[in-house]
Amino acid sequence: MTKTDLAYTGSYTDWTRKAILAEVEKQMKPSRFQHVLRVEACSIELAEKYGASVEACSLAALLHDFSKEHDAKIMKEIVLSQGMDSEMTGYGSEIMHGPVGAYYAETVFGITDEAILDAIRQHTIGGETMSLIGKVLFIADYIESGRTFKGVDEARRLAGISLDEAAYFKIEKTIIHLVKKELPIYPGTIYVYNSWIQRKVGKS
Ligand SMILES: [Fe+2]
Ligand SMILES: [Fe+2]
Repeated sequence: MTKTDLAYTGSYTDWTRKAILAEVEKQMKPSRFQHVLRVEACSIELAEKYGASVEACSLAALLHDFSKEHDAKIMKEIVLSQGMDSEMTGYGSEIMHGPVGAYYAETVFGITDEAILDAIRQHTIGGETMSLIGKVLFIADYIESGRTFKGVDEARRLAGISLDEAAYFKIEKTIIHLVKKELPIYPGTIYVYNSWIQRKVGKS
C-alpha cells in the first residue's frame, strides 16, 4: 500500500485515505457516509480559511461519526470500561458516539494527536475549550452542504466571519432545540454552554 493517496500526511497513522474510507463506509448507511464526505469537504474549506491543518481536519472529519450507528450496548461497555463519563450512558448514542468514536480513532486507526482525538470527542456537544481543529469539525458537522435546518444560513454566515461566533451559535441553538422538544440535556452540554456564555459576556 502506498501513501500517495493519504489525506493525512503526518505521522499519526499508516492508514491510506482509501483504506480509511473503506473502513468508515462499512460502519454506516450510505446517506451517513455521504454526510461524512460533506463534513470533510466543509472542514477542508474552513481549515484553509482559518489556517488549521487541512490534513488533520480531513482525518478528524472522516472519523467523526465512526461509531454513530454502532450498537448502544457496545458503546456503553466502551464508555464504562474506558473510564469515560458514565452519565453519558443515560443519553444514548447521540452523546456517546463522540467519545467512543475517539476511542476507535486511537485504537483502530492509531491516531495519537490529542487535538484530533478531542475534535472527534467533542464534535456533538462542543467543549469548554476547543482547539482550532475541534472548532472546524464542530462547525463543519453543523453547516455541511446537506444541512437544511432553520438557521443554517445564519450559521454559515457566522462561519464565514468567526469560528467562535459560529460555535457559540451552534451551542446556544442546540440547547434551545432540546428545551423546546422537552428533551433531557446531558450535563456536559450545559457545562459547555456555561463556559461559552461566560466568555461571550466577558466574565471569565
Ligand atoms: Fe456525530
Ligand atoms: Fe456528523
